[in-house]
Amino acid sequence: MPTNHSPRKRTAVVTGGGRNTGLGIAHTLAATGAHVIVNDLVLDRAEAGAASIRDAGGSASALQFDITSHEDVVAAMERVRREIGTVDILVNNAGLPSGSQMLPFLDTPRHDWSPYIDVNLYGSLNMMHALLPGMVDQGWGRVIQISSSAGSAAHRGLGGTFYGASKAGIEGAVRHIATEVGPAGITVNTLALGLMEKLREPIESKSSPLLDSLWADNIMARIGTGEDVGAACAWLCSDAGEFVTGQTIHLNGGAYAGR
Ligand SMILES: NC(=O)c1ccc[n+]([C@@H]2O[C@H](COP(=O)([O-])OP(=O)(O)OC[C@H]3O[C@@H](n4cnc5c(N)ncnc54)[C@H](O)[C@@H]3O)[C@@H](O)[C@H]2O)c1
Repeated sequence: MPTNHSPRKRTAVVTGGGRNTGLGIAHTLAATGAHVIVNDLVLDRAEAGAASIRDAGGSASALQFDITSHEDVVAAMERVRREIGTVDILVNNAGLPSGSQMLPFLDTPRHDWSPYIDVNLYGSLNMMHALLPGMVDQGWGRVIQISSSAGSAAHRGLGGTFYGASKAGIEGAVRHIATEVGPAGITVNTLALGLMEKLREPIESKSSPLLDSLWADNIMARIGTGEDVGAACAWLCSDAGEFVTGQTIHLNGGAYAGR
């Protein structure tokens, strides 16, 4: 975990920060002056992500661990506390377990029910449980949970029962946790995303009727980027965002507003 960190900077951890949405968030937080710890399950991704931030003039280090392992999370966050200090900002971005696929509920055997719940619910809770005590002790902290519109709306044809359940579950937990840590100066919010950059190719090639119908709901007629999400994170982490907590904010180009 090599670091060019200065002690005066805020420290942020972005889970699943090695690519796509998480990497955009990590870059945006680094541009606000934070030292960003780029976590990923895949070491090369975490290292490349942190290197790209340093190349852009920011401060970043890489840290590989699996957020679904409570033991690994505790060990990794203890190492961060020793080597860097208290983490001020947590972005729980990792939310798509590698290798899993979304299937209709009735086609999903019992042994395939866990991956989305493990990463979105238990993974995010592992991170919050490890980092909130330090934030409480210092009297300041920001937690941002990345969710999906699938947490509050069903999408016909998505096969998103477990994905939606895990996102809805963590959104509920965020509201409760916000009530417990708010008096200590910590805000905890959810950003629920819509169609993101990763889906640009199938949207543009109109290869998926499901994406086509989701795209038709997008008022702004533009795909979301990691930097869009990063900008919302930066606002929530700024002084201007300090009165916002326990909320789910939808960041989806206005999808569903017209319904
Ligand atoms: N892509 C979209 O259109 C979209 C839409 C709505 C919401 N979201 C949400 O945005 C977030 C990021 O999505 P994305 O499309 O950028 O994902 P992605 O799969 O492209 O990248 C996520 C990263 O997380 C890492 N990761 C996965 N499991 C992990 C674990 N257990 N521990 C540590 N790292 C892990 C992966 O290795 C990967 O590098 C997710 O929470 C997702 O649910 C995405």
